[in-house]
Amino acid sequence: MIGSPVTARSNVNVALVKYWGKRDPELNLPATGSLSLTLDGLWVEAEVGFGDRDADQVTIDGEPAQGVERDRVVRFLDLIRAQARCDGSARVVTRSRVPRGAGLASSAAAFAALALAGSRAAGLRLEPPALSALARRGSGSAARSIFGGFVEWRRGERPDGSDSIAEPLLEPGAWDLRVVVAITSLAPKAISSRDGMARAADSPFYPAWVAGVDADLAEARAAIRARDLPRLGHLAEHSALAMHAVGLAARPPLLYWRGATVECVHRVWALRADGTPAFVTIDAGPQVKVLCEPADAGRVADALAAVPGVERIVTCAPGGGAEVVAA
Ligand code: DP6
Repeated sequence: MIGSPVTARSNVNVALVKYWGKRDPELNLPATGSLSLTLDGLWVEAEVGFGDRDADQVTIDGEPAQGVERDRVVRFLDLIRAQARCDGSARVVTRSRVPRGAGLASSAAAFAALALAGSRAAGLRLEPPALSALARRGSGSAARSIFGGFVEWRRGERPDGSDSIAEPLLEPGAWDLRVVVAITSLAPKAISSRDGMARAADSPFYPAWVAGVDADLAEARAAIRARDLPRLGHLAEHSALAMHAVGLAARPPLLYWRGATVECVHRVWALRADGTPAFVTIDAGPQVKVLCEPADAGRVADALAAVPGVERIVTCAPGGGAEVVAA
């Protein structure tokens, strides 16, 4: 027995400059940098304890994990065991306040929480950059969920990935915005981000996508420094639509949108034409996330709720980084 279990909680994040492609799938190293906002209120909690069991026990939202999902967690535990030089079996229990596998970044929150809880439970005390590098191995976007507010994940140059870590750009309290999430389907998506990214890498548009991201990052950083919502919003919309365009041109094609997804985009554009600064972004799923001012969040939520096919609306403020909640 190594010690008592540790529970950590981590929020999801929404990418404003997307991560969509890998330069090393084994080490989970991205082809480009990316930039996100961590969101309050949509989180995953992970409890991890190491002991003398026969095998790892993994429970996700009350159900024993199976298949690919369990393998991914066990492989991640192996990384922690190797770093901590421990060989105990783990008991892992995760609870999420975010629908899993539906393009709401639950894996980002889950692996960030697992990195923090798991490393502490194994006796490691990792600083945030090392935690970010560890979380990245579970899910790339998890590297960003270690931190709160606006976060940039650097591509890094080294083949071992030691410089491919996220860093905070702006504290959550430093710029008050809202992200209104329109959930158009709670069904798990048919193609994971991981598989989608692999397919997109063969798209004829992929090289153009990769070539454009550095300029997008520079523009996003400048917009954040200036607290310029329209500048950041237009850039985030461009990044999301360009990412989806890469998939559309792949063979076989990749299309995460439902009809309601497209209709939500048009509603937001109509709001904008009427003078409300609101901007869409879409990840590897059918949900639409809208960046806007706090004072406009109610109007945006009402407009999206009226779209046929929208099942639920969640409004999030900027959120904090991963934290230990029980030890
Ligand atoms: C569209 O981080 O889930 O949300 O590293 O393979 O686990 P893996 O992928 P993941 O991909 C996220 C893709 C995205 C864009 C983003 O979050 O930047």
